[in-house]
Amino acid sequence: MERKWWHSSVVYQIYPRSFNDSNGDGIGDINGIIEKLDYLKELGIDVIWLSPVYKSPNDDNGYDISDYCDIMDEFGTMEDMDNLLKEAKNRGIKIVMDLVVNHTSDEHKWFIEAKKSKDNEYRDYYIWRDPVNGKEPNDLGSCFSGSAWEYDKESGQYYLHLFSKKQPDLNWENEKVRKEVYKMMNFWVDKGIGGFRMDVIDLIGKIPDKMITGNGPKLHEYLQEMNKEALRGNDLLTVGETWGATPEVAKLYSNPKRNELSMVFQFEHIGLDQIEGKEKWDVKPLDLLELKKVLSKWQVELEGEGWNSLFWNNHDLPRIVSRWGNDKEYRVESAKMLGTLLHGMKGTPYIYQGEEIGMTNIRLENINEYNDIESLNMYKDRISKGYSHEEIMNSIYIKGRDNARTPMQWNDTENAGFTTGNPWLAVNKNYKEINAKKAIEDKDSVFYHYKKLIDIRKHNDTIIYGDYKILCPEDKNIFAYIRELNGDKILVVCNFYENEVNFKYDEKYNSAEILVSNYKDSSNLVENLNLRPYEAIMYRIK
Ligand code: NOJ
Repeated sequence: MERKWWHSSVVYQIYPRSFNDSNGDGIGDINGIIEKLDYLKELGIDVIWLSPVYKSPNDDNGYDISDYCDIMDEFGTMEDMDNLLKEAKNRGIKIVMDLVVNHTSDEHKWFIEAKKSKDNEYRDYYIWRDPVNGKEPNDLGSCFSGSAWEYDKESGQYYLHLFSKKQPDLNWENEKVRKEVYKMMNFWVDKGIGGFRMDVIDLIGKIPDKMITGNGPKLHEYLQEMNKEALRGNDLLTVGETWGATPEVAKLYSNPKRNELSMVFQFEHIGLDQIEGKEKWDVKPLDLLELKKVLSKWQVELEGEGWNSLFWNNHDLPRIVSRWGNDKEYRVESAKMLGTLLHGMKGTPYIYQGEEIGMTNIRLENINEYNDIESLNMYKDRISKGYSHEEIMNSIYIKGRDNARTPMQWNDTENAGFTTGNPWLAVNKNYKEINAKKAIEDKDSVFYHYKKLIDIRKHNDTIIYGDYKILCPEDKNIFAYIRELNGDKILVVCNFYENEVNFKYDEKYNSAEILVSNYKDSSNLVENLNLRPYEAIMYRIK
């Protein structure tokens, strides 16, 4: 496979609203990000994925865009954005923009026009249907609870919204829509951005009348067209958010021969603690054997035919240390273990803000203290279906998106140094204990562990390009694998739990050098290792 710059990159995701507030209005902003570029440089990342900063009424915190070529007032101006691009570039950091083109805001000028009348020239930019027997055209549901169809009294038709009713779906079958999107993408490409993260891109080929949403028949045709028209041969990082992708489908997106995307986010591992056939709120404990199977499958199946993205976290997911680690007595050990496990794999790693200091989930007593539209809608929906307040809150504590959206914890001053004003969402009370300043002052912190993992990748082709092989696949406590390139071997051994366990490397070797570990005195006798709680070690084997 031809080598690409993004094969060896590490991406850091910023959720601007919660990252750093420079002007005291309680909301993170672009100048706040600029202030922290040196921190990111110190960590060693080379790409920022910036969650949406465009004009938006914030029904879904920026994923409802009313102007793709302008900046949200709360976040700053286009001049600030240009400045961010420049300052990032000065530090060798590229910016990947969030591309949200499955839908717009209902306050986008296209939708405002489209709503005016059935024969408006923008009407067909969106998906309108007549009522069936006086009701919704069909049973398609919104990802944020309730029907995906909203009735428009004026015209007597329904429009489709797979997310909130303030996020009408664009009609990708309309060539004019596609052209507008490519034009807008070029506006950003011309500014020198590093690429696009494509929001729910697997939905753009939908056929709502046949109840097809993901992976519609024309999806790949659109992506090839987009690649040609919007990327124009620029070597950009493009990553599609594709919830239902299987390895087969991921190869269609990311096989370089097909000229679609660099890679996709697949979510198979993310769904492993969800009861099958139920909603994300209906949780079951994670089975490590399943996690090993799923992640290994993706490693092996994309080999030579696609590219993986590696992630535990983003702004839609709970904090990994609270989810599959131990956010109490082994917070530091388990956060480092999870980082090691992921960063030893093949693919492009993504770090979500705060993950590098081991930030945890939050528990707020009152539903009114939450902001996320998904949680709020689900709360109403489930209350009406008879669930108890406690049951629902418990689901939110485990899976709610605000877990990841609480303000970044910079130091131990008021509001964790995120803002001098009133934070838009509660700061986690543990900020005096968990914050970036403290992490930087402690050479054994999660931060320095992540820094080391990034540094190892930068200097190690085996991590970037080596083959992957799982070891002891039936072991219920240990996740271990080996990476190999031209005879160079990297061994990663992780104890996933807090009980002590034994691991044996049963191949011949001469020496095992520890590249990184989460205990100071890890052993290099890999033929017989006693692993302590959450112990994780990466070795070079000779
Ligand atoms: C996926 C985004 O990550 C999420 O935050 C958003 O709510 C939906 N897409 C809709 O844009």
